[in-house]
Amino acid sequence: MVGGNQVIAGSIQLGVITAFVFYMSMFYGPINNLSNIIPFIQQASTSGDRLRELLETEPTITNSKHPRKPDLNAGISFNNVNFGYEPMLHVLKNINLSIAKGEKVAIVGKSGSGKSTISKLILRFYDVNDGVMSINGVNVKEIELGYLRDRIAYVPQDVILFDNTVAYNVAYGSNNHIGAKEIIAACKAAIIHDEIMKLPSAYDTNLNERGSSLSGGQKQRISIARAVVKIPDIVILDESTSNLDVNSEREIYKALVNLMQGKTSIMITHNAHEVMNADRIIVMENGKICESGSPEDLLRKKGNFYRMFKRQISKGEFKKEKADESVSSIYSYIDGFILDPKRITITTGDRESIVDVVALGKKHSGLLPKLPFPISNPNAVIFYKSGNELLFVDDITALDHESYKILRKAITMNNFKPAIRTIRKILIRGDELEWHVGTEYGNTIINTKGRRNISIDGSTISLTDTFDNIYEIEIDKLDQKSFSIISESI
Ligand SMILES: Nc1ncnc2c1ncn2[C@@H]1O[C@H](COP(=O)(O)OP(=O)(O)O)[C@@H](O)[C@H]1O
Ligand SMILES: [Mg+2]
Repeated sequence: MVGGNQVIAGSIQLGVITAFVFYMSMFYGPINNLSNIIPFIQQASTSGDRLRELLETEPTITNSKHPRKPDLNAGISFNNVNFGYEPMLHVLKNINLSIAKGEKVAIVGKSGSGKSTISKLILRFYDVNDGVMSINGVNVKEIELGYLRDRIAYVPQDVILFDNTVAYNVAYGSNNHIGAKEIIAACKAAIIHDEIMKLPSAYDTNLNERGSSLSGGQKQRISIARAVVKIPDIVILDESTSNLDVNSEREIYKALVNLMQGKTSIMITHNAHEVMNADRIIVMENGKICESGSPEDLLRKKGNFYRMFKRQISKGEFKKEKADESVSSIYSYIDGFILDPKRITITTGDRESIVDVVALGKKHSGLLPKLPFPISNPNAVIFYKSGNELLFVDDITALDHESYKILRKAITMNNFKPAIRTIRKILIRGDELEWHVGTEYGNTIINTKGRRNISIDGSTISLTDTFDNIYEIEIDKLDQKSFSIISESI
């Protein structure tokens, strides 16, 4: 697998990864559809087109002789741009558009009207046939390609997750230094952190089969965290929320607002709430811009935009979704939560599994330590009070010796995972599974809710029960009968 680690090691250029994620999104979408609805030949030919596109396009786009790296936290402009995938068949016709630095522009229009093509030109997957597309006044053809794609976060409709850990999937494609702090901050911005902490190995949980154990909304928020951690200059959202149910759509939109804050942003969307939150709306029809203006202007005008959205708009109310003003960098998301290990002391709580923490002169008692990265970074610790997150220490080895010893002990007590030796039966009870098992400490019954609380990593299965206790099953060590019960059930 390629990814963040190779980038860190310097063996892959960053832009290659943005390109990869982009192509994968063009590729998997159709392929996924294909396996579901084979009879629709149209889909098949779309897939074929995209595959051809994947194979054919890249080599014609190359760096200019003296590529430049202008500041891309800037405006974008299209001047008299014509573009066709087939040179004579223009799908963008005489596009004139200038997007100011920091402006949020929504692009709406029927399917096939050319919306995604605009984003492909900005990422320079194709070159325009006529006219000029520029960022910060520099023709995009002059901008160093890897740099261009590194500075743009592109969030597609079909998220690409890899068969690897949550942390890997978040850090993937970024060339910034990414440690525990950055990953947690980005996941808080993307409103996915709390859910990740509930996975069996938190950020070290393996996402099998491209995230099959996550909901669509969770996958989408992980891809937003990936975009946040990149600290991009420009954000492009291409129908990023259109596969989701209404509730997760709103949640995710909040996360997107955090991502777009202060950045030149383009969102291609059919969602009235997102459209009404844009600074400006561009309406596309048959490759042309047919209307442009603020949401209020376009509603008043009663033209295409009004006709397209009047149903949705008359049904809902639209509150302006505000980004958190106090956020000036991704670290703002962990302000007040992260503590300097040199300024705290830890003493034993009522039980050995909990601790008391004195931080900045204030005593917090009865805290439960949990590891966000139990395997890859066991020195990062989050403290919980009555189920709520309170404090975060990103490197406990910097604590004083006594505090460290007490904390380690509490962590060991909490990370104790009883091993399941035999499985007697597995019953389905509503949306829960009821496991009748034998552990190293005798027989018990545990309940798990949904697929999400069962994670498989190599030959180990981890179960998180409805009380957040974790149990482990070593598949190789099961007897024949237990093995057949588990293979029938999951
Ligand atoms: N890779 C491609 N090769 C050839 N034609 C394409 C390709 N991608 C898109 N098109 C065509 O370009 C037009 C605009 O497509 P697109 O920008 O994807 O529209 P939208 O995003 O608005 O649905 C459509 O007619 C579409 O069929
Ligand atoms: Mg599109």
